[in-house]
Amino acid sequence: MGNKAQKNNTVGAVILAAGMGTRMRSSRHKVLHEIGGLSMLGHVLSSLDTLSVAKRVVVVGAERGQVESAVDNVSFAVQDKQLGTGHAVQCARQALDGFDGDVLILYGDVPMVSAATMQKLIATRQENNHALVVLGFKADDPASYGRLVLGQDDNLEAIVEFKDASPSQKEINLCNSGIMVVGGEHLFPLLDKVSNNNAAGEYYLTDLVALARAEDNSVGVVTVAEDEVRGVNSRAELAEVEEIFQNNMRRNAMENGVTLLDPKSVYFSHDTKISPDVTVGQNVVFGKNVQVEVGAVIHAFSHIEGAKIGAGSKIGPYARLRPGANVGSNVKIGNFVEVKKSDIEDGAKISHLSYIGDASVGAGANIGAGTITCNYDGFSKYKTYIGSGAFIGSNTSLVAPVKIGDEATVGAGSTITGDVEAGALGVERSKQKNLKGWSTNFRDKQKGKK
Ligand code: UD1
Ligand code: MG
Repeated sequence: MGNKAQKNNTVGAVILAAGMGTRMRSSRHKVLHEIGGLSMLGHVLSSLDTLSVAKRVVVVGAERGQVESAVDNVSFAVQDKQLGTGHAVQCARQALDGFDGDVLILYGDVPMVSAATMQKLIATRQENNHALVVLGFKADDPASYGRLVLGQDDNLEAIVEFKDASPSQKEINLCNSGIMVVGGEHLFPLLDKVSNNNAAGEYYLTDLVALARAEDNSVGVVTVAEDEVRGVNSRAELAEVEEIFQNNMRRNAMENGVTLLDPKSVYFSHDTKISPDVTVGQNVVFGKNVQVEVGAVIHAFSHIEGAKIGAGSKIGPYARLRPGANVGSNVKIGNFVEVKKSDIEDGAKISHLSYIGDASVGAGANIGAGTITCNYDGFSKYKTYIGSGAFIGSNTSLVAPVKIGDEATVGAGSTITGDVEAGALGVERSKQKNLKGWSTNFRDKQKGKK
């Protein structure tokens, strides 16, 4: 068995995703619905990314085109008719041709299974030389899950499907998550013995357990909390899994040194990266692709997406950072400020009521309240450059393309259409006139009318 060590190190995965999921009432395939901004199938694949998996096969059927165009670096196996989970894995036979390592069997609609759990399944199988290891859980309500029938030494003897279970077997609350790992040399020989002679008339993957035992091979169980193996069949279950996911993200953030003032009101994306000693206020939403550096503060009711926030910067309350907002360190982005596709360099301040888009704002610049970059003419977008240390007076419109030089000043209320050179004052408004006594006369006249 010279190649045994090598064999044991190779892992493949088969992900079942042939069912459309009609209970979602969606034109979108079930496994493409998102948790934390990533499709359920994406979650399964990203957990696999952290193991070194040699081969990943997704079993597709209904609306397979949608699934095939949504994911990369996998092979697809087609199951035209859904004849059962055992049949679905059979369909992957060709895609796994020549592969003899351990095969993880996963469901595309069970997205929260961690890489650590997958690893534990594989290790348990290899260390005990089990033919297969099943991932089980103690169910609060075992409902119609398959029941795990244990024998002596906690060896798994069989999985009995609910429809086929006796009244006493229905009392068992240790349930089958559906997920398992099977030793490569056992998988297809056992599958070939599966029949559809059961209450559902389906080829049950779960029959592998009793079939392996009948050949005197051992079968193991690894158990996890029910939340980790929750499946999604409806919008309500999607929302439940989203909540589990968000709670995991919140707990991880706090464990990594992030203060969440009201954890349950903060929403993360699967890829949110937050450094230690960041404080996040109440009701903050992180969309995809956000990175926040150490010591930054995100005040309440801010919505942040596709943005980088540098160390020590203060954002919000009520700020909106859109994709391409690249905020340096010690920057202040205040209330009702929207920033899109702009570099805001260190120490700049945009404190109130502004729109900054397609711009670059130099270090230490001060952008007055109500400043708007007019970046769009209805056809194209144009850039605004604001130099370092520049001062833009309140209620200024900067009509792009336009450049404000370093340490220039723009007078409040200006509509700036031409460049302002470094160190200069740019002001564009009509001269103020005061009419002495006008207001008093006006008021007296109006009062007389009554
Ligand atoms: C299955 C298990 C059951 C377990 C439960 C956990 C079997 C026989 N039963 O039951 O023990 O407690 O999952 O949720 O395995 N699929 C296909 N092709 C098919 C059938 C299913 O791709 O022909 C996919 C589905 O899209 C789904 C998954 O496999 O993602 C599970 O199928 P489902 O019909 O929900 O299995 P259950 O009857 O719930
Ligand atoms: Mg099911």
